[in-house]
Amino acid sequence: MEAKLKVSEGFEIAKIDKRIYSSFVEHMGRCVYGGIYDPKNSLSNEKGYRKDVIEAINELSVPMIRYPGGNFVSGYRWEDGVGPKNERPRKVDLHWRTVESNQFGTDEFMDWVKEVNAEAMMAVNLGTRGIQEACDLLEYCNLDSDSYWAEKRRAHGRKSAYKVKTWCLGNEMDGPWQTGHKTAYEYARLANETANAMRLLDPAIELVVCGSSNESMPTFGEWEETVLKECYDNVDYISMHQYFDAPTKGTLHHLAKSVRMDKFIDSVVSICDSIKAIKRSDKTMMISFDEWNAWYHSNEHDLEVTPWQEAPNILEDNYTFEDGLLVGLALITLLKHADRVKIACMAQLVNVIAPIFTNEEGLFKQTIFYPYAHASNYGRGTVLQAIIESPTYEVEEFGRVSYLDSVVIENDDNEHLTIFAVNRSLNETMDLSLDFMGYEAYQLESHIEYASTDPVVKNSFSSSIEPVEMKLDANIKQVTIKPLSWNVIRLKK
Ligand code: AHR
Repeated sequence: MEAKLKVSEGFEIAKIDKRIYSSFVEHMGRCVYGGIYDPKNSLSNEKGYRKDVIEAINELSVPMIRYPGGNFVSGYRWEDGVGPKNERPRKVDLHWRTVESNQFGTDEFMDWVKEVNAEAMMAVNLGTRGIQEACDLLEYCNLDSDSYWAEKRRAHGRKSAYKVKTWCLGNEMDGPWQTGHKTAYEYARLANETANAMRLLDPAIELVVCGSSNESMPTFGEWEETVLKECYDNVDYISMHQYFDAPTKGTLHHLAKSVRMDKFIDSVVSICDSIKAIKRSDKTMMISFDEWNAWYHSNEHDLEVTPWQEAPNILEDNYTFEDGLLVGLALITLLKHADRVKIACMAQLVNVIAPIFTNEEGLFKQTIFYPYAHASNYGRGTVLQAIIESPTYEVEEFGRVSYLDSVVIENDDNEHLTIFAVNRSLNETMDLSLDFMGYEAYQLESHIEYASTDPVVKNSFSSSIEPVEMKLDANIKQVTIKPLSWNVIRLKK
């Protein structure tokens, strides 16, 4: 089949905020314990952080990591996780019904995040706690004042404040599963007052207010409206979360699920802009898509897990190749909305629905690792408005879906154009022509291909599908794209 990609110099969507390639570490399962922190393991450094995991994360160039949850945060007492380790209490985590040892807490996270060259995005507990505890944590993290919590941090050996810029006002507070779940109005009032107080303490912070947990929540829409009516002036972002479910209707349907993400973003943008209009505001609300991924492989197993274990193996999805492609398509979708989506966090980073999977002897990279790594490493710059001409297919729920999905980025070095492209077809190769007006001086430089004929093949400790560098003819503005493939095509001036 034939497809065409057209761009024209100067026609841009937006400069990409690098935080669109962020990730998420929650205290749950083996994400923290046995994932990033494993003090008894010889693969760990003197602080107990797994060196092989740090190395793999660095390959992803993750700019920011959300912490400590997730559902976990809504029952968390952050004070339990600071100070001498032998005095830290073992507590139950009500949501995941596990035991939290608190051997890893705020200070360890702030140390560790430096090792992976990322900044922290912190969430405060607005489930079982409120304004005061949020302010205490902010004081502990960000203030250099001569006051109780700032002094505690110094007493714990951290002289300078961490100056965390981005803060989430709770997590999924619309969800009945959330500890301390609230109605939209109850949450809106609490979030607004917490925002007020936190800003008094540190005016330099940015705040994310909770949107809906997903687009099928019965309160979706009304929730955003109520929350934004209260909080619009006091927050910078509204959150979005979305997990792709099992491919019960086949690969072509699974790969169309990024269209769901696209529509969800459009809907939230519309609601934000309607509140902007009602408020006669000059401010445009941005989106923090701070949890997204595929999540379904572990569901059955997780129903049978015995409660009150420490770091049980929950949510350990082993991803298929088609999940990898869907992750690539989700990244393309987020990038196409770079004018409004400023933050996005793949959920999560290690072991728990994650691109990196460890055991005591090492790790392997899941299929979803590669599109994420490519997007984060090559997708820095400005998204161009691209016109896609491609054959389409009809799929239940989504209507006509294009076989080709793609995004074009003019990189910050002003020397490269990077194309991310997925061919959704199960068996047809695509001849992709590039019609790039104003970029006549650019020539094809490289083509990385991630392809498989088997959509359900998985990576493991013993075998992996890995991307390959393709040979190409630099003078031709046409690239051949395999069926079921993720591609990174780069042009150089
Ligand atoms: O990432 C797993 C869970 O999914 C998070 O704890 C929660 O926020 C969401 O429901």
